[in-house]
Amino acid sequence: KVENLALTPPMGWNSWNTFGTDINEQLVMQTADAFVELGLKDAGYKYIVLDDGWMAKERDENNNLVPDPKKFPGGIKSLVDYVHSKGLKFGLYECAGNQTCAGYPGSRGFEYQDAKLFAEWGIDFLKYDWCNSENLNAKGAYETMRDALYACKQPIVFSICEWGDNEPWKWAKDVGHMWRVTGDIINCWDCEVSHGNWSSRGIWPIINLHKDLRKYAGPGHWNDLDMMEVGNGMTDSEDRVHFAMWSLLTSPLILGNDLRTMSKETLKTLVNKNVIAVNQDVLGVQAYCHLKSPELEIWVKPLDNEEWAVAFVNRSNEELQLSFDWWKHPINDQLTHKELEKKYKSYSIYDLYASKNIGLTNTNLVSKIKEHDVLLLKLSPQK
Ligand code: DGJ
Repeated sequence: KVENLALTPPMGWNSWNTFGTDINEQLVMQTADAFVELGLKDAGYKYIVLDDGWMAKERDENNNLVPDPKKFPGGIKSLVDYVHSKGLKFGLYECAGNQTCAGYPGSRGFEYQDAKLFAEWGIDFLKYDWCNSENLNAKGAYETMRDALYACKQPIVFSICEWGDNEPWKWAKDVGHMWRVTGDIINCWDCEVSHGNWSSRGIWPIINLHKDLRKYAGPGHWNDLDMMEVGNGMTDSEDRVHFAMWSLLTSPLILGNDLRTMSKETLKTLVNKNVIAVNQDVLGVQAYCHLKSPELEIWVKPLDNEEWAVAFVNRSNEELQLSFDWWKHPINDQLTHKELEKKYKSYSIYDLYASKNIGLTNTNLVSKIKEHDVLLLKLSPQK
């Protein structure tokens, strides 16, 4: 694969969660405009990814893929140019099987031809799905498209969308830059909906699935928890938790809402630079669960410069009164209490959502956390 890409988790937007196959060129252009006007570009979001539904139902007489002429009368290349003119990057969707999940032509047997076309159009990102892939070997199928993209000699981020059945975390590090770990996300705090041989999952079932996978992620190769549902109907506090957890777990931060109509509160969450910095930290180490109870979960992520991000999540339906003794629960599980005390007197604590200092770790942390909300902190050593 092309190295030195996605050294921090990719950030962008994808059409699927809100629009499904109901996509067109105005939507893409307006989304690119919104990236710039709303400050999303400044906050670090880069990729605008068109998911399933962009193609015509048939290849042309030379077997080339054709953009749907009604949805994309100007073709894909001019749209890519428009997105590039805004200083942003363009992503496209295809599928390893005979057909995409929505029934458009898949790349099976046309991998090199399709990759060449995508490269001619100037795309920067390919999401590659796994529907209608009967009898294909997953690793082999993704390696074929990786090699086809590599042959184009263009820096294209390769996003593996295999849903976890073939445990991509075990083989995809050298194949793609990110790999999905689940079937599709749904806009729900804690539910799971079975579709027979696969399930769609809300926020917590995805996080729970994911907790053993942290050792597989790192710069250039990420566990992908799916496009986000922030702004799609959960409460603002649930959205804050969702965004914090995707950041802590070093998932790509791919927006899945309608940027043109989102509320001020949604935008505020999505452009929070403190939280994004946790996701984009150069170490690229995923958070681990430090404490889990039905009401409270504590997640901890090591950051560069010996800093830490710590999230206290209230999973209950009532306000939580927190009184937390840092010395009883040294968040750095590599250091004993004594070592910790010797090395640092204490850490200073910064509240990342409220953007303010809230004291030191030498006294108990006392705070109220609303139902389904998070207190997200950064600890910096006081040397
Ligand atoms: C299944 C994927 O998991 C989704 O993210 C989306 O790309 C759809 N396919 C498109 O059909």
